[in-house]
Amino acid sequence: MIRLPGRRSRPRVYVTRQLPGDALDRLREQAQVDIWGDDLPPPRDELLAALAEAEGLICLLTDNIDAGLLQEAPNLRAISTMAVGYDHIDIEAATANGVLVTHTPGVLTETTADFTFALLLSAARRLPEGERAVREGRWSSWSPSFLLGRDVHGATLGIVGLGEIGLAVARRARGFDMRVLYHSRTRKPAAEEELGCVYVGFDELLDESDFVSVHLPLTPETRHLFGDAAFERMKTTAIFVNTARGAVVDEAALMRALESQAIAGAAVDVAEVEPLPRHDPLLRLPNLLATPHIASASVATRSRMAEMAVDNLLSALAGETPAHCVNPQIIDT
Ligand code: DGY
Repeated sequence: MIRLPGRRSRPRVYVTRQLPGDALDRLREQAQVDIWGDDLPPPRDELLAALAEAEGLICLLTDNIDAGLLQEAPNLRAISTMAVGYDHIDIEAATANGVLVTHTPGVLTETTADFTFALLLSAARRLPEGERAVREGRWSSWSPSFLLGRDVHGATLGIVGLGEIGLAVARRARGFDMRVLYHSRTRKPAAEEELGCVYVGFDELLDESDFVSVHLPLTPETRHLFGDAAFERMKTTAIFVNTARGAVVDEAALMRALESQAIAGAAVDVAEVEPLPRHDPLLRLPNLLATPHIASASVATRSRMAEMAVDNLLSALAGETPAHCVNPQIIDT
């Protein structure tokens, strides 16, 4: 059952952070908007207080919108997250409470695929180590065996999860003459035909790939998919890339694999717990490249994500079916 609009003409909306671009100006024209102005996510007490009143919520992947919070949100009709992944929202509880949930797929696909390739290339060619060597005065001479990396061109890339972002990564791989293997819930005949992607089982992908790149949502099935067994199967020369969600990987297992050089390296934009603590043992490893969840962080893409989050929310609050609704079934019931 969907919650119907109240009598108030301008609904009350809470936004958990300032957003890039001018999307929030547009929101202000149609809603009474309260914005959490801090750089860090609002604490739970603040969210509880805001949701006691709000009809709409724009949140980020850093906000944990759980069942307890939803129970204390009597007027809430729609949650719009400025993210494609919505594992930070209890969708079942939102649906049971008649609250529509929307997200921002599509707009960040190419930007995220660009960044995936940036990570892959950087890890393969040891860019961070090279940069540090220059700054720290360790570039003594051109040397035949200084910082030797792995070739990307002609190598085999294994993509786990061939959704939109996985496909965009596969398109880029073609430009590098890579052989692309993929493993996905469903086979993608168009990708096989047009991009030459080859469907293989998960184990075969791990056995064969020089680079393994993950593009899966975080679900109970994908949590810790990459554990000891997966890393042990991979080539000792392989590089693992994760721009999806940290918890798809068992970080303790990744640590063991990198330390024992069961794999050559990893480049990760996401962590099981974000931010990755400064003194996390993973950060002591020279064969790990870590970035702070910025794969979609281009000026244009983040502005488009904000626009889409506002459009989704306004359309939900107007009683329409938003374009990117996660639980549209509640509209029919
Ligand atoms: C998302 O949208 O889910 C990404 O992780 C951040 O852009």
